[in-house]
Amino acid sequence: MNRPEPTAARADNLVLIGPMGAGKSSVARELSRLTQRRWVDTDRLVVREAGMPITEIFAAQGEEGFRRLETDALRSLVGQGRLIVATGGGIVTRPENMPLLRALGCVAWLTANEDVLFERVSRNDRRPLLQTDDPRATLHGLLERRRPFYESCAHVTVDTSVGTHAEIATLVLGQVRAFFAAVDPVRA
Ligand code: S3P
Repeated sequence: MNRPEPTAARADNLVLIGPMGAGKSSVARELSRLTQRRWVDTDRLVVREAGMPITEIFAAQGEEGFRRLETDALRSLVGQGRLIVATGGGIVTRPENMPLLRALGCVAWLTANEDVLFERVSRNDRRPLLQTDDPRATLHGLLERRRPFYESCAHVTVDTSVGTHAEIATLVLGQVRAFFAAVDPVRA
């Protein structure tokens, strides 16, 4: 897991993956500030393209419809540089997204312990997949099922359970630098 390897990842983009509540969007904004890069969020791109909020996309087109739009959003970023890309928690579940994510840039998996994630996602009801009778159990199931996907997609991992967004963004940058130094010690 997270071992350096020959990589086609662009060095000027940074991609954040991880479960709902991991802080991807907030940390992306902070990384944008620290690195003077533009931040984009695939959820926002999807909402803009569909012209409706995520809850309505799920209601009208189901999860499959949402995932198609999400892949389109990801594809629209290919070829762009100097980006911090925040993604939705389920983006890793579509096999075709994996090479797109890893080619786009260094992929950082933001994660946190389950209690913290649940506390964060419970602050609003904007996540259709958690509108169930037992959202805690649903979250647990999603985390279990998706962990292997995050693991195989990520170049680096950062725990966001504790710390401010600025502290976590700094940790991410440290991991990313270490990753590229290990891949290419001459250029780093
Ligand atoms: C989803 C996570 C959400 C959003 C959609 C589906 C998921 O994004 O893409 O509700 O499948 O985990 P966040 O991870 O930003 O909450």
